[in-house]
Amino acid sequence: MRKKITVIGSGNVGASCAIQLVQKELGDVVVVDIREGWAAGTTLDMFQFTPVAGVDAKSAGGSNYEATAGSDIVVLTAGFPRKPGMSRDDLVWANYDIVKGTLEQALKLSPDCILIVVTNPLDAMCHVAYEVSGFPRNRVMGMAGILDTARFRAFIGDKLGVSVEDIQTLVLGGHGDAMVPLVRYTSVGGIPLADLLDADTIAALVKRTAVGGGEIVKLMGTSAFYAPAAAAVQMVEAILKDKKRVLPCSALLQGEYGIEGLFVGVPVKLGAGGVEKIFELKLTEEESAALKKSAAGVKELVELMEPKLAEIRAARG
Ligand code: NAD
Ligand code: LAC
Repeated sequence: MRKKITVIGSGNVGASCAIQLVQKELGDVVVVDIREGWAAGTTLDMFQFTPVAGVDAKSAGGSNYEATAGSDIVVLTAGFPRKPGMSRDDLVWANYDIVKGTLEQALKLSPDCILIVVTNPLDAMCHVAYEVSGFPRNRVMGMAGILDTARFRAFIGDKLGVSVEDIQTLVLGGHGDAMVPLVRYTSVGGIPLADLLDADTIAALVKRTAVGGGEIVKLMGTSAFYAPAAAAVQMVEAILKDKKRVLPCSALLQGEYGIEGLFVGVPVKLGAGGVEKIFELKLTEEESAALKKSAAGVKELVELMEPKLAEIRAARG
């Protein structure tokens, strides 16, 4: 039997995610959005795309959650994107209600799914998803690190005039401007980045990566979607194919990196069990301080939401 993947939100990220899932034949795709006609129309269009693409995957959509029942994976993309001048954190209250409301409906029907959060502010919304779901931590995760890493890889490849495929790197921390691209863990075909570029050039690439989302928002008035969707699809693929990929994702830390009870971007092993392992790196003092600073930004938002999170916990019993 084919796998079932639900995408909540059929906006820029959700629709891009759905078409890529279909194109990769990862399973049947159900898309839910309050814009019922849009979700129904775009998914019908995607289904009509399948003969041309030579793939077999059903896609359907609407505003009702019934068809999502029994999903293996739920990808949450519903919510407001930022506009120029806004930080991701500015979205917290607008998206809190959307994340809580949509997941309450979806998870009743797919209680065994693995949940991938995309909605911003990413790490904070993972906390809402974690509380609403009551799932163990391996089944709730956020997409950000793959995107942030992809940006760093793209910029490095461009600067060196080499294939982006040959660049290995790691970005840790919350999905905000204080994220921590790790130069020490960056290599090009096995060659340390510091052997290929001078410190100032590397610093400029790190800076561009950290504000990479904002650069796109400034250009088009809303946030990126092709790369974010591809990153979420890579996570779906790793889980459904039990690939055991090592990818940076937002995961709930329980003491790892000296951080307790916060969703933060770290390298994890992604397989059929979701987050099957969290890899703990030996960071330098400077790297560790940068990670703690980035995590402190997530903590601030979580503390702001805490009274509401406590209500969710109490209601769950
Ligand atoms: P968008 O405005 O294009 O789409 C959002 C969709 O959510 C809309 O179609 C809207 O109708 C739908 N929606 C709103 N409330 C809903 C509800 N209650 N139920 C069902 N659907 C609902 O926005 P987008 O560009 O697709 O971005 C979506 C979210 O993803 C934003 O919060 C954005 O910031 C975030 N994002 C995160 C990352 C990341 O790296 N984690 C990257 C890109 C975007
Ligand atoms: C980005 C936003 C949308 O990084 O999170 O593009």
